[in-house]
Amino acid sequence: MKEEFRFSSRFSFQDGENEFSRILSEYKKKKISYIDLTLSNPTQAGFQYPFEAIRHSFQTNDLITYIPDPQGNELARNTISDYYRSKGVMIDPDDLFLVSSSSEAFSYLFKLFCDAGDSILIPAPGYPLFEFLSVMEGLQTIAYITKKENSWRLKATDLDPKILSKSKLLLIVSPNNPTGSVFGRSDFESVKDILKKYNIPTVIDEVFSDYVYEGESHFTLTDSEIPVITVNGLSKTLGLPGMKLSWILLSGPAPWKKKTKELLELISDTYLSVNTPVQNVLSDLMQWRTMIQTQILKRIQRNRAVLKQIIFEFDTSERIECDLPKAGWYCMIESKDFFPEEKFSLRLLKEKQVYVHAGEMFGFPNTDAAGRIVLSLLTETDVFESGLAKILEFSKEIRLN
Ligand SMILES: Cc1ncc(COP(=O)(O)O)c(C=O)c1O
Repeated sequence: MKEEFRFSSRFSFQDGENEFSRILSEYKKKKISYIDLTLSNPTQAGFQYPFEAIRHSFQTNDLITYIPDPQGNELARNTISDYYRSKGVMIDPDDLFLVSSSSEAFSYLFKLFCDAGDSILIPAPGYPLFEFLSVMEGLQTIAYITKKENSWRLKATDLDPKILSKSKLLLIVSPNNPTGSVFGRSDFESVKDILKKYNIPTVIDEVFSDYVYEGESHFTLTDSEIPVITVNGLSKTLGLPGMKLSWILLSGPAPWKKKTKELLELISDTYLSVNTPVQNVLSDLMQWRTMIQTQILKRIQRNRAVLKQIIFEFDTSERIECDLPKAGWYCMIESKDFFPEEKFSLRLLKEKQVYVHAGEMFGFPNTDAAGRIVLSLLTETDVFESGLAKILEFSKEIRLN
């Protein structure tokens, strides 16, 4: 008799192992080395962390006494408010809710604003995990498409009123992953009326806000007239994703904020997921922000320089294009040779042992006018350089064959 397993239908999107994972696990099993240009886990990217000091903080702080607070421990929230003050942004620690990750922040916000079956608006190109986070809450996603000619910045014309009227939330990532585009005050002002008209709360994921380069600036957006919620956390701010501490910052009209806090407290109190030790050492950890971020920023600047040199000076074919990213941890390069993107990326992995992300994964429009691949700027620079050289070599080979 056929065995019947009964699971939730939310997993219906899952159709077995993908080809990239299959090849990568085969490489690992057979000890075949490959160049990973997707690595974005900072704790595996060769940075120096203050191990001794962090160990000392955990040894000398109280790890045991449990005083549950659905918003998170007050001292930790004060530290986060100091972080914003150091960037010139004044916030009230009482507007913060601590969570264990940005992903969890989204799951709370989805519970807060949506019912199963509702739709939310997500950016394309954008962070692929939003789709999965939405599926886990029984939600549908509708992509709003930002344009290359607008440097991928959100414009009011990218928001279709018909879609806005049936969506429960608007998600913005600033700086965006993978385009690096920043959603500034003037961009906000240009969409504020339409958001107000459709009464749609906006969530801004600003996890990459400390990684902004020349010619660009980022400012945490808060508003007193319409609901604007910010998500950020230690995974990028301190390059410590394993610490599992992120936060939700609320802004909006006072009565809305009051009700929102009441409901968010209910959700948070149901899980109380943030561990006590990390909350108690947060002020110690934050002291290492400059030390850690400086290394990450230097690595990114070096890789941007390599990118500039290889693409702009050595690629005489002029078939490869790249706009140097103005923010974030990623870059994308573009060429007709990369089309179709997934096929190109798979061949690159199989034939040259170079692993990149295909643009399709982030919702770039898949047209033969331009294929795009996305690389992580966190990769160690010598690896980044040799990987990039192999990509150029491979696209030339493809062209000649
Ligand atoms: C845009 C964006 N938001 C959030 C995250 C993940 O943050 P966390 O580790 O806090 O869940 C990432 C991870 O790369 C990301 O790219």
